[in-house]
Amino acid sequence: MIEEMILYHSVIIKAFLGFLVGGLLIPVMTAKNPLGFRKASFIYTMIFQGLTTMIAFTGLIAMVKGEVGMGLGIILMIIIWAILMYIEIRKYKLIKVANLQEPTKHQLLKGAFIKISLINILLVTMMVVLKIAEVKGAISLS
Ligand code: HEM
Repeated sequence: MIEEMILYHSVIIKAFLGFLVGGLLIPVMTAKNPLGFRKASFIYTMIFQGLTTMIAFTGLIAMVKGEVGMGLGIILMIIIWAILMYIEIRKYKLIKVANLQEPTKHQLLKGAFIKISLINILLVTMMVVLKIAEVKGAISLS
């Protein structure tokens, strides 16, 4: 049960990483279509929230069932998770209220979308690398 949860946690995180990389295409593909950009961003945020909820859910179950203490690794994961959610909600609100018909606004938000995606990819990759380093015995996150 615990191993299964950690496996789900791990697989969803890899899928999430793939989703973040694929999401980089949204501002590119909707470069000349502001309304398409808004619509695609909303669908993106919905999937983003679904995947991050599954990550937290499987992580929390693994933590409780596996009686894993609040070590540095868990604290880091929760902090990264909270940052991911916070930035995504702020981005969603910005894109929702902006007048995207204004070319400068559209341009600005496309840039912000790409930058935020790159930060998210960096954060998730960093956590995956830290966990791999821990398994290999190079560092301790307990
Ligand atoms: C509420 C949020 C989260 C909780 C409670 C949580 C909890 C856990 C627990 C209990 C484990 C297994 C025990 C351990 O290795 O320490 C684990 C493994 C892991 N978590 Fe999380 N986690 C959360 C979010 C995240 C996030 C956002 C990421 C990525 C950025 C992440 C990446 C990982 C990785 C890479 C592993 C190792 C998986 C493996 O062994 O294959 N976790 N997490």
